[in-house]
Amino acid sequence: MFLGITRPRQPILGTEVAGVVDAVGQAVSRFKPGDRVFAFSGIGMGCHAEFKVMRETGPIQLMPAGASFEDAAVLSFGGTTALYFLRDVAKVKAGERVLINGASGAVGTAAVQLARHFGAHVTGVCSAANADIVRSLGADDVIDYRTENFAARWEAWDVILDTVGSLSFAQCRPVLRPHGRLLLIAAGLGALLKAPLQSRLSGLKITGGTAPERLEDLAELKRLYELGAYRPVIDRCFPLERIADAHARVDTGRKAGNVVVLAGARD
Ligand SMILES: NC(=O)c1ccc[n+]([C@@H]2O[C@H](COP(=O)([O-])OP(=O)(O)OC[C@H]3O[C@@H](n4cnc5c(N)ncnc54)[C@H](OP(=O)(O)O)[C@@H]3O)[C@@H](O)[C@H]2O)c1
Repeated sequence: MFLGITRPRQPILGTEVAGVVDAVGQAVSRFKPGDRVFAFSGIGMGCHAEFKVMRETGPIQLMPAGASFEDAAVLSFGGTTALYFLRDVAKVKAGERVLINGASGAVGTAAVQLARHFGAHVTGVCSAANADIVRSLGADDVIDYRTENFAARWEAWDVILDTVGSLSFAQCRPVLRPHGRLLLIAAGLGALLKAPLQSRLSGLKITGGTAPERLEDLAELKRLYELGAYRPVIDRCFPLERIADAHARVDTGRKAGNVVVLAGARD
């Protein structure tokens, strides 16, 4: 319903983009032709294209110094989601223990790095094949979900971020510390509807919903990239002519980080 009832509201997919400004309107002062920018249209989509029109006041920023187009193109999706849920919703503090379920995905790889940047102890849950990537991003501990159930460990966490949609409240409750936060970023409607009552009864904070697309979050991700505190992970790049293969790769649910589609002339 969100994306269109009988057909897609926006037939051109793609939530984020990087490229060169081709032309600007007369009243535009933030950008000029030739500027290298990255942008996050989010649910508005339309980024899988050679040309994209955006408002200068929208979520668009000059690319970080030293960033490739590929890196800049995938800074926002996982990054803004991780920023919103970890910083704004959970208010992660230094020393807290954060568990990221699906630590090898686009959101997961961003969340591991940002939780680490906030000073948290980070546990990443992913398959053994992706353990080295997740550890290299700063996870203190990695649990292979195929061979171990993290909820059976004698450990507890302040924050659990589920990017997969495979965790239930019943499973997480025993391993959440008092005042723990459960962030259900890929939950179904049923889990979201139950969350307010479960929060009230348990004293825990259970939150789902959608992260916003904000100009200031892109500025923060750019700053963190330039600091070396955040690097998007790229699974594979495909030319625009092979966009069906790019979608097929994403649809496997097995990508590590982000898939990039390359369009138009690049230097
Ligand atoms: N709420 C919001 O605002 C918001 C914003 C952005 C995205 N999302 C949602 O977040 C979800 C994640 O998106 P994404 O692009 O980051 O994911 P993704 O890249 O598609 O995630 C795939 C990764 O998940 C791992 N994985 C698969 N099953 C797993 C399991 N049972 N336990 C742990 N890891 C598992 C896979 O690793 P292996 O192959 O090694 O298993 C793979 O690396 C999507 O449902 C998306 O719609 C929500």
